[in-house]
Amino acid sequence: MPSISALQFADAQSVLDNIERQFTISDDTLVEIAKGFLVEFEEGLNNYGKDMAMIPTFVTGVPDGTEQGTFLALDLGGTNLRVCEVVLNGDKTFNLTQKKFKVSDTLKQGEASALFNYIAESVDSFMTTHSKTDYTTGRKQGDSVYLGFTFSFPVEQTALDRGKILTWTKGFSAKNAVDHDVVQLLQDAFDRKHMHVKCVALVNDTVGTLLTRAYISGGALIGAIFGTGTNGAYVEDIAKLKKLDGSPAAAKGGHMVINCEWGAFDNSRTYLPMTPYDNTLDRLSINPKYQTFEKFISGMYLGEIVRHIILSLVDAVPQAILFKGKSTSALNEHYGLDTAFMSAVEAAWIGEDQSAEAFELPPLGAFDDSKLNDKVQPKLQRIKTVIAETLHYKPEDISFQDAAIVRSLCALVANRAAALSGTAVAAVLVQTHRARLPGDTTRELKHQNESVIGVGVDGSLVEHYPAFQDKIRATLRNLVGEDVEKRVDIGLAKDGSGVGAALCALQALKQ
Ligand code: BGC
Repeated sequence: MPSISALQFADAQSVLDNIERQFTISDDTLVEIAKGFLVEFEEGLNNYGKDMAMIPTFVTGVPDGTEQGTFLALDLGGTNLRVCEVVLNGDKTFNLTQKKFKVSDTLKQGEASALFNYIAESVDSFMTTHSKTDYTTGRKQGDSVYLGFTFSFPVEQTALDRGKILTWTKGFSAKNAVDHDVVQLLQDAFDRKHMHVKCVALVNDTVGTLLTRAYISGGALIGAIFGTGTNGAYVEDIAKLKKLDGSPAAAKGGHMVINCEWGAFDNSRTYLPMTPYDNTLDRLSINPKYQTFEKFISGMYLGEIVRHIILSLVDAVPQAILFKGKSTSALNEHYGLDTAFMSAVEAAWIGEDQSAEAFELPPLGAFDDSKLNDKVQPKLQRIKTVIAETLHYKPEDISFQDAAIVRSLCALVANRAAALSGTAVAAVLVQTHRARLPGDTTRELKHQNESVIGVGVDGSLVEHYPAFQDKIRATLRNLVGEDVEKRVDIGLAKDGSGVGAALCALQALKQ
């Protein structure tokens, strides 16, 4: 059972203060982290094989909302496998029909052929039972149904419909997939089942999010995912993609969408202030030393970090700081605490009453239930209920103080994630010459007349964690200034993976 049982202390408040210090990143440090991003962006744009892969996607334009067509889309890499049919109406709107399929750990970690057979079966089942289009009658022999594939893992693309898997992330480790062409793996599975489906485009979810945001709003610069994993894509000048020098794409010039794979930022552990909890999480993960940034940010890991902190406080000596020293099997389970728990705790804390009194808490050392005012008490009561339901504690084992501590731990971990998310976005704004970091007076600024800088986002954290976007904006203000921050239009691009795959399939057929 993984835990950190090394907390020996004189007073509980100093333990909590110390944890708070470790999880709070100063603005100066965020600036240094943003500079680190710029260094790794450049390394990845210049060379293959770098931690931050800066993958050319061969998507050379963004939609403007007039695109039309009906496509199948497949989305692997979030919580579920999704098969969709997308109708692009050509007026910034779309219709989407979808079915979700669970991907078991056995499939995630077994043979790649079994995983891709399952994907093909899911597409087949969707086409026969769910899609709005009749794919069986009236089709001529050899007619193909075109599909765009959103595959949200690092893939070194060599064309819109070709790319080798570089590595797995987010709990996947299927064998005989890395170094193989992912479109081929999928197409072989369709062919084994004699399905007339042709995968014409491969797209990362961040790219799908960027394209979708552009389609629904008329343009966008960045697509970012803050969900099970994290990553960003943006529109870059091809001239800056030195590793493509000499290629036909470079000769054409113009712009290309780059999939940064920023989840791998700082795999060298140069910039991010690690805590012992981050080290434990990394050591016990299936990919130690990889996806360092992702492990600070994404939904797959935040609950696990909180779980490690809670356990350390349960195990603290000479006296437990949480839950009278008791743990539960849910709390002891590796990855037993979902990030949804943190969202629920925060939502309970924010509640309906937002007056200052409703957030007043006594200091820990002097925590006295009878001194809680009647505005804050119901909030703590709701948090107790969330804890009891999720972690299976008996209500009598959870005090109001426990509820207050758990809430502050969740907030520390989530706030750090949001600040780092904002830093990644700020770094792209600087990279694309839309902004400068504090203290920089020399970087050339371009696009100053652009009134809106479009950022499409998706993922469970931005969608469900209360005020996550506001926190991203606060960091943007600190790093790139209010003038730029005001022009940044962050919009949820829901269904980005499905719609983006369809938009990419359309682009592929036009080429
Ligand atoms: C993957 C990216 C993906 C991100 C968000 C990361 O783990 O490496 O390709 O975009 O998760 O889903």
